[in-house]
Amino acid sequence: MTIGIGLLGLGTVGAGVAGILATPEGRHPLVAELALRRVAVRDLSRPRPLDLDPALLTTDAEAVVDDPAVDLVVEVMGGLEPARSLILRAIAAGKPVVTANKAVIARYGDEIAAAAAARGVYVLIEAAVGGGIPIIEPLKQSLGSNRIQRVSGIINGTTNYILSRMASEGAAYGDVLADAQRLGYAEADPAADVEGGDAADKIAILAGLAYGGAIERAQIPTEGIHRLEARDVDYADQLGFAVKLLAVAQHVGTATDGTAELDVSVNPTLVPRDHPLAGVHGVNNAILVEGDPVGRVMFYGPGAGAGPTASAVVADILNIAGIRAATAGSSAEGTPQLDPLLAASRWRPCRLAAAGATVKRNYVRLQTSDEAGVIGKIGSCFGAEAISIRSIVQFEGQEGQAEIVVLTHEVPEDRFRAALAAIAALKEVKAIAASLRTL
Ligand code: NAP
Ligand code: HSE
Repeated sequence: MTIGIGLLGLGTVGAGVAGILATPEGRHPLVAELALRRVAVRDLSRPRPLDLDPALLTTDAEAVVDDPAVDLVVEVMGGLEPARSLILRAIAAGKPVVTANKAVIARYGDEIAAAAAARGVYVLIEAAVGGGIPIIEPLKQSLGSNRIQRVSGIINGTTNYILSRMASEGAAYGDVLADAQRLGYAEADPAADVEGGDAADKIAILAGLAYGGAIERAQIPTEGIHRLEARDVDYADQLGFAVKLLAVAQHVGTATDGTAELDVSVNPTLVPRDHPLAGVHGVNNAILVEGDPVGRVMFYGPGAGAGPTASAVVADILNIAGIRAATAGSSAEGTPQLDPLLAASRWRPCRLAAAGATVKRNYVRLQTSDEAGVIGKIGSCFGAEAISIRSIVQFEGQEGQAEIVVLTHEVPEDRFRAALAAIAALKEVKAIAASLRTL
């Protein structure tokens, strides 16, 4: 049974998908039943890397969705609009959707899921997080029996590629970012990568799947690598850590009404060199899932790029093709019932926990005057908030100044902020030059 595919976008990911559909030999036999029927692009005159029939291309994306020969819509154009409207249009027409668009799913996932449930069609999103790494379906299905305690990891390939090359080669930030764009890793606007927004979209999606309910995307505390200074990477290295952009979603507690309270954030983080995440280099991503009773499971692989992402997109298409093949000929009337695991139905409310309920380990770099007693005063500010210091090291600063790096043990976020405010008010302290997380 042939399934007609309508492709919205023929950029890095779209071209990867079209490439797989055009070469079914040696793949699962269902791939040969997928026929690319129409493709929406923005610019018809742009040269395409594929030997694709030009008659398939159009700039009219709605016509692709509406085409009666299109049974399934693949949205890989990116951005919020018209992507969101096109996904809803496909659902309204009873057509399943596969998308790699984490920005849309992190913001409009519940609206899209409700529309899909009402129409009885699947919207699958494996490619939206972790590129080629299977993480969405494992969280939805294979790990479904667990109480998830924590999901954490490196989920932006561009920033991990930048940090890895800066650390290993001393390469300049701007040059490595340009390479990431050329290799198809970066978003159309790479600010989403380097400012942490892409990782925040992805951790919002993972948290929604792990904990059963949506959290407000705009409220996720997010810090990217764009303000990270080379000297912090250097000091971290001297102290035995690698710096990684980590996204974390952690279960903090359950309110009396059953709402799950979560600590969700994206931060440049010092990772001990012997931790498994410290060894994740280049465009690779890794996601650690900690659950009861499974323990700790790590998913690792290429997190961006045409081939890995297209692998995940086509896997979703095959999931839908498999369900079609299994139900072909069944004569059930009305709206089809969806498998609640594959459709990722919500099952409880979730919200972000208050700052006083979340605990973190921290790295702080202070620029101070180089005089006796400064370290003692800084220690007292932490002590007044009952914050235990793991280590405190003085590095040489410029022109009579000192750089003091403090690593704290786990501390509630509100008390840490109060201590920083007291430290900032000390006359010997010129600046709180950096404040990062540590594992
Ligand atoms: P891309 O290279 O910029 O490609 C976007 C494609 O969509 C282009 O072919 C563009 O047409 C087309 N397009 C954009 N707006 C359109 C419109 N209004 N009407 C018709 N066509 C339109 O982007 P990408 O890297 O493939 O990413 C696509 C999506 O996948 C994004 O949501 C991204 O976040 C996600 N994703 C990307 C990766 C990755 O590694 N790149 C990995 C995972 C997920 P033209 O070619 O004519 O410009
Ligand atoms: N820009 C994204 C990244 C693409 O670098 O991880 C994969 O989602």
